[in-house]
Amino acid sequence: MLRKLSSLILVGVAGLAMSGCSGGGGTDGAATGSSAGAGGGNDKIVMGFAQVGAESGWRTANTKSIQESAAQAGIELKFSDAQQKQENQIKAIRSYIQQKVDIIAFSPVVESGWDTVLKEAQRAKIPVILTDRAVDSPDKSLYKTFLGSDFVEEGRKAGQWLVDEYKDSKDPVNIVELQGTTGSAPANDRKAGFQEVIGADPKFKIAASQTGDFTRAKGKEVMEAFLKSTPKIDVLFAHNDDMGLGAIEAIEGAGKVPGKDIKIVTIDAVKDGMQALADGKINYIVECSPLLGPQLMDLSKKVLAGEQVEPRVVTEETTFTQEQAKQALPERKY
Ligand code: AHR
Repeated sequence: MLRKLSSLILVGVAGLAMSGCSGGGGTDGAATGSSAGAGGGNDKIVMGFAQVGAESGWRTANTKSIQESAAQAGIELKFSDAQQKQENQIKAIRSYIQQKVDIIAFSPVVESGWDTVLKEAQRAKIPVILTDRAVDSPDKSLYKTFLGSDFVEEGRKAGQWLVDEYKDSKDPVNIVELQGTTGSAPANDRKAGFQEVIGADPKFKIAASQTGDFTRAKGKEVMEAFLKSTPKIDVLFAHNDDMGLGAIEAIEGAGKVPGKDIKIVTIDAVKDGMQALADGKINYIVECSPLLGPQLMDLSKKVLAGEQVEPRVVTEETTFTQEQAKQALPERKY
């Protein structure tokens, strides 16, 4: 109770701190937090969630899942959108520490550079849960658990599709790669997993590889450049659906047929990606589930109740062919 009362005073100060961190576009924790929990003097669990941004269909679905699950679980959510900037996420986390929330969860935009702020949370005795993306800190005591996909495995699955698709061909296969945000766990891990599988056969060559920052606009822009600089492109590997969808626009703009002239494999399986797969414009999608909200709320309650939780909780995921996408689309939730 004392902790909740003192937070009544601090929340005003924290509100000022937060107003500098959301950059105007997204929601932020101090602005969207309701009157309960840390600021309202009741016993509701208060969670501060520092989101990466709104860069993709996946991220929008992830935010919705977290907001809806918090409401269903009776957890008060203070939510901030970092607009893909690490400094904004750090400011948001510091604000949650000042507000003395009960628990902090966040999806780190990049892997490095978190130790200082995580130590601040630890000193304030506020447990932290990583969702979706990992940090590279060797000190695992800085967070209670990491909930999310196995991105290396996703990259391997994309590579395996390619190996199977070209198993009867001896000709060189020229690949262009649209990487996710530089320094992020999904970009690093998907690249590594993909390379591990295709690297076993020298006919697979990555002719060009560049970041498209997980956005549709950048995916289009970089693919346009690839089409100009790389004379023969057989395959596009895009680290997410949105960049793949942007690239499809670039490929069509160049008078080529996506899915035929250039085969495309992506990761996520959001509705727009699944529609393009069903329409034959994408050839294969490796699923990455954004529906992390229910597990996150469950883990948070356990952590705050002092129960032991697994240090790593891996999301269950599948893959989709064009036929499977047609079947799955009517029921697809995001
Ligand atoms: O961290 C998950 C990745 O982030 C998703 O694959 C991508 O779409 C998002 O922006």
